[in-house]
Amino acid sequence: MLRAPALRLRFRSMRASDLTAVAGLESAMLHPWPPALLAEALAQQRGWQMVGETGEQVCCYASGTLVADEAEIHRLVVAPGLRRRGIGKALLAACLHRLTTQGARYCFIEVRANNASALALYRRCGFRAVGRRRNYYREPTDDALLLAIDLPALPPLCPVDLGPVNDVQEEAGETQCGLSCPQPG
Ligand SMILES: CC(C)(COP(=O)(O)OP(=O)(O)OC[C@H]1O[C@@H](n2cnc3c(N)ncnc32)[C@H](O)[C@@H]1OP(=O)(O)O)[C@@H](O)C(=O)NCCC(=O)NCCS
Repeated sequence: MLRAPALRLRFRSMRASDLTAVAGLESAMLHPWPPALLAEALAQQRGWQMVGETGEQVCCYASGTLVADEAEIHRLVVAPGLRRRGIGKALLAACLHRLTTQGARYCFIEVRANNASALALYRRCGFRAVGRRRNYYREPTDDALLLAIDLPALPPLCPVDLGPVNDVQEEAGETQCGLSCPQPG
């Protein structure tokens, strides 16, 4: 089987100096968050953000809030050229691990009902549908599915089954792991 080159990923908290790179990731989205909104999210007291790097390049990021023991994911984006290699799953695992260590017991996300890749990712990682908001999204109109996961009180290093992700290490607030995935297609 064809194999893509192994990826070494490092996940860490997002910094102001990442804003340009993260705005670049956003530019591939249907309704990109402008840099001002990203900066606002970064400054939010109850907000959390995480980026993933391959080498020096920011290749994915996630953003949300943590209020009491309830976390929300508002954004989770992987660079278009690096999708289907396990990065989204590894990023989600790193976020859930970090959130659990910060006291989260539940995590929620709203997803467009027609966002098949995101729904597959979250279901694959243990989220379940707990609600539907009809015609919640605009341009195009779409339902929102509300997904949720119960998080363990004491998190393992990776709270989801990462499949081909290996060699996970956590040090000084950073999570590092290796990916060696089959070439998609
Ligand atoms: C959703 C997204 C983050 C997935 O990232 P990714 O790195 O491609 O995902 P992974 O390679 O880790 O895939 C993890 C699982 O998700 C599922 N999945 C991901 N993309 C899929 C697709 N296009 N079709 C079907 N299943 C898919 C698979 O079950 C996969 O597990 P498997 O490979 O073990 O079968 C990415 O497509 C993306 O950035 N989309 C645009 C932003 C977005 O819609 N974010 C979500 C809402 S905020």
